[in-house]
Amino acid sequence: MVRIAIISYSLYGHTEKIALAIQRSIINAGGSADLYRVDETLPDEVLQKMKAPPKTTSIPIASTDVLLNYDAFLFGVPTRFGTCSAQWSTFWDRTGGIWAKGSLNGKAAAFFVSSASIGGGQESTVKSCLNYLVHHGMIFIPLGYNQCFSELANITETHGGSPWGAGTLAGADGSRFPSELELRIASIQGKTFYEIVKNIYDDSEVTNKGANIPKTEGNNTQANKKTLKQVNVDKKNKKKSNCTIS
Ligand SMILES: Cc1cc2nc3c(=O)[nH]c(=O)nc-3n(C[C@H](O)[C@H](O)[C@H](O)COP(=O)(O)O)c2cc1C
Repeated sequence: MVRIAIISYSLYGHTEKIALAIQRSIINAGGSADLYRVDETLPDEVLQKMKAPPKTTSIPIASTDVLLNYDAFLFGVPTRFGTCSAQWSTFWDRTGGIWAKGSLNGKAAAFFVSSASIGGGQESTVKSCLNYLVHHGMIFIPLGYNQCFSELANITETHGGSPWGAGTLAGADGSRFPSELELRIASIQGKTFYEIVKNIYDDSEVTNKGANIPKTEGNNTQANKKTLKQVNVDKKNKKKSNCTIS
């Protein structure tokens, strides 16, 4: 089975709620997906001033190994100044070593977002994240319109989300939480993403015997398996790469 990780950063819990809806929909569609969170980079003193609630510690922090251990990813990114949060760019800044080896080449990824307001930058946030995918050779899977035209085109109700990915509007004071419509769009994204990646990654699995795969983290269950396709891609990349960044 294709191994999916949902990795998000969430300061006040809005992006995390979308992540949970996406996870549920993947499970309902017959797949599975493990949740991770991106590590905080703001000092405690600043978090206190921002009135940030405690982190959901039951969700493990994503190390860069998580990117190696899964086939496909849904990344949850709250908007900061129309672009991705610094916590996310710090996460990607740690991936130079695996970038040099081409380890993420051909893996699939999608995005979902949260912003304060309409026009606050949901689409530009996803677009800014495409740089990371392109440099890693990853495949962007947009939400598109095909399965959720009526939801995305709904102009009678205020909502986040776009063909670039599901989204919620938190409000300027963070008091608004995902609406039913936004959660429905998130569920559609989870289901369609799962159906697409299931077709990309066939069911021919090999165990990690002989393959250089780090051990599973936390309570996540899928990470010790690797598709035959990915093992072959890794082997080829290992042979080709003579870059020294680690
Ligand atoms: C420093 C900072 C910059 C922000 N910039 C934007 C912005 O450009 N556009 C916007 O709509 N919201 C902006 N926001 C609001 C966040 O996007 C919002 O708090 C977030 O989506 C809530 O999601 P979370 O609870 O998952 O962190 C900003 C928030 C902070 C703290």
